[in-house]
Amino acid sequence: MYCVINQRMLKEEDASLGIRDLALLRGYGIFDFFRLSKGVPLFIDDHLDRFYAAAEKVRLDVPYTQQELKSRIGELLNLNEMPISGVRLLLTGGYTPDGFDPGHPNLVVTQEPISFPSTEKYTHGIKLITYEHLREMAHVKTINYMTGVWLRKKVIEENAYDVIYTYQNKVLELTRSNVFIVDSDNKIVTPKENVLMGITRKNLIRAIEADGGYTIEERDVSVNELVEAKEAFLTGTTKKVLPITQIDDKKIGGGQVGKVTNKMMTLFKKTESDYVESHE
Ligand SMILES: Cc1ncc(COP(=O)(O)O)c(C=O)c1O
Repeated sequence: MYCVINQRMLKEEDASLGIRDLALLRGYGIFDFFRLSKGVPLFIDDHLDRFYAAAEKVRLDVPYTQQELKSRIGELLNLNEMPISGVRLLLTGGYTPDGFDPGHPNLVVTQEPISFPSTEKYTHGIKLITYEHLREMAHVKTINYMTGVWLRKKVIEENAYDVIYTYQNKVLELTRSNVFIVDSDNKIVTPKENVLMGITRKNLIRAIEADGGYTIEERDVSVNELVEAKEAFLTGTTKKVLPITQIDDKKIGGGQVGKVTNKMMTLFKKTESDYVESHE
């Protein structure tokens, strides 16, 4: 596999970063991740927009213009020929002169295999456990996943799929996905404060608005509203739309995947295939 490292295109085994990078010493860096669908980089412009906005927010310069980076990614995809895969864009704080101040950012673009949740999870839904946590710079896709990784052991012990973060009685997001509920008025609701603006979330919201069959609201969701919701589901790049049927010990929608969630899975599938068709 080839990768892009700063201005160079190298075989992964020949690429490396030094041990004084601020990402390693202080966890300072951002990334983004998109997948290829039938060889087409899905929603690539949304991902690049988010990556460049994040770089600006954390005051790191990407060593390419957005258009240049897009063509570099195109070259990488041609070299690697891996039609179902993920692409990771990583921008680090660079080699720090004193262990704290940033240097020139290092940019690394890698391509890797991806796997999707099992069919069983799409038909029966998943269990989540709650955990009180607010991600630092929640709107930015930073490389800091300390809490999520640390909680893996607990997730496995509780026979759950993942963690859903709550904060001051509000529902935020999962470790790597956004959450949606169907509320008592049959509206589809998703939090928008203190969460990462997921690209799957964004494209599903657009599709719901265009479809017109359901009302979508971006607003705070209380923990109580989540556990009492008629239905719940998550969205994410490698999960698409996945039903949630249990939160801690409480079943959602009687533990069954509901009709709105099924509709959302179909709607997203169509959104993805329409995108692929128009970008092939
Ligand atoms: C914290 C967090 N929230 C939400 C998401 C979902 O975003 P996307 O749909 O762009 O994958 C991610 C993706 O990894 C994430 O890390």
